[in-house]
Amino acid sequence: MPRKLDENLYFNDVAIDSHHGKILLQYKMLADAVRDGNSTVMINKLANFLEHYTNEHFDAEDLIMLQYRYPEIKEHRREHQEFEDSIKELKKRLDEEGATRNLAVAATGLLYRYIINHMNKTDKDLALYLRERKPR
Ligand SMILES: [Fe+2]
Ligand SMILES: [Fe+2]
Repeated sequence: MPRKLDENLYFNDVAIDSHHGKILLQYKMLADAVRDGNSTVMINKLANFLEHYTNEHFDAEDLIMLQYRYPEIKEHRREHQEFEDSIKELKKRLDEEGATRNLAVAATGLLYRYIINHMNKTDKDLALYLRERKPR
């Protein structure tokens, strides 16, 4: 798992770039908490963070995709929707089961897959597309 942002992931957009840094940090904090046995405290905070994060971050990416007429917008939006659905499911389980270590481990996997499959692939494709079109 990368510890810092890959330079190919830079959007040259202050908000979006800082969001990406934040999610990597959250992943690291959660993985450390699971390792150290503190994950039940962390999982509640994380669920709230992710709910706000997805709203703000996906809106920002959506705007930039529209602005630069990104041809893959439909697929990109679909992946965002999938992640939002997973966060809703996580919050639902948190309400029903409480903050358990099992749930924290499941959340670690969810974030890991999001970073590897979405950020490091789908977001990177978008960043590369913008690189050629967006003024610096
Ligand atoms: Fe992103
Ligand atoms: Fe994205």
